[in-house]
Amino acid sequence: MTLSGKNCLITGASSGLGLAVSKKIVNMGASTIMLCRTKEEGENAVLEIKKDTSNASIDLMICDLASMKSIQSFIIDFKRKYSKLDILFNNAAVMKQKRTVTEDGFEMMFQVNYLAPFILMNSFLELLKNSSSHQVINNGRPSDKLRLDFDDLQFQKNYHMYNSFFQTKLYLFFSSLELARRHVSDGIIVTQADPGPFKSNLVRDVPLAGWVKNLISSPVDKAAENILFVMTSDEVKIKTGKLFVKKNERPLASYWNDTHIRERLWSITETLINKYQIY
Ligand SMILES: NC(=O)c1ccc[n+]([C@@H]2O[C@H](COP(=O)([O-])OP(=O)(O)OC[C@H]3O[C@@H](n4cnc5c(N)ncnc54)[C@H](OP(=O)(O)O)[C@@H]3O)[C@@H](O)[C@H]2O)c1
Repeated sequence: MTLSGKNCLITGASSGLGLAVSKKIVNMGASTIMLCRTKEEGENAVLEIKKDTSNASIDLMICDLASMKSIQSFIIDFKRKYSKLDILFNNAAVMKQKRTVTEDGFEMMFQVNYLAPFILMNSFLELLKNSSSHQVINNGRPSDKLRLDFDDLQFQKNYHMYNSFFQTKLYLFFSSLELARRHVSDGIIVTQADPGPFKSNLVRDVPLAGWVKNLISSPVDKAAENILFVMTSDEVKIKTGKLFVKKNERPLASYWNDTHIRERLWSITETLINKYQIY
């Protein structure tokens, strides 16, 4: 299997799963665009890949997803450079022990884990349509027991590191399903992918909890293989609006299929980001 000729954008590519997937797709010939928060971390990640791979086609692009200004200029730069995007892998995420607010006034996990991927997938629709794969992959899976609270979308009343983190994954999942529904006739394939638990530094704010989680998790390479499956399998690419856990499609819970909730969240989100006029 080759990804030669495909433009693949991976967010949060400086470490963990984003770096592991970047390594794999570079080796498969993809033109790999690595979105990293800082230049230093990004350059280290690129060096690590180039150590093992000659002729790697890598474009390091810096963007802080916690800043609308940074997102705006990233999108402008990306569109100047590229006329098509085959695969967008919305992978970046942050987990914060204490509630923090970005320079734009949004709760940090709400912006990085949800608003930023929402903006990227909507901003790059035309580029996705111009490609041969036109695939959006959003990372993570909320529990099917989790319910959305429209009165507290940014956790002002109730903040809990894990619950709020998975709430942002629930919002992302709703937006994956809604994007899939809205663009089914354009051939855009939107997949929500859960690669399974793997060792990483995601739970860095609570080192002991992160250590315990890593004890019972798989190596990151295994998780990267699961994402690679979603990127390359014909079985995945013929269906939009699906959930894959590791390499298996999972049925959608009836709550996730509630179009009223999805549309309401979509509309609130558009209102929140309207003033930035990004897309
Ligand atoms: N670990 C697991 O068990 C597991 C299981 C299922 C799904 N996932 C999902 O896998 C994804 C990757 O997580 P990981 O475990 O690999 O953790 P990780 O190593 O901490 O990776 C997160 C990436 O996101 C980037 N990021 C965070 N804030 C950013 C910002 N403001 N702007 C740009 N990039 C930013 C980080 O860059 P910096 O380090 O520079 O901030 C890092 O490269 C997440 O979506 C997570 O929910 C993880």
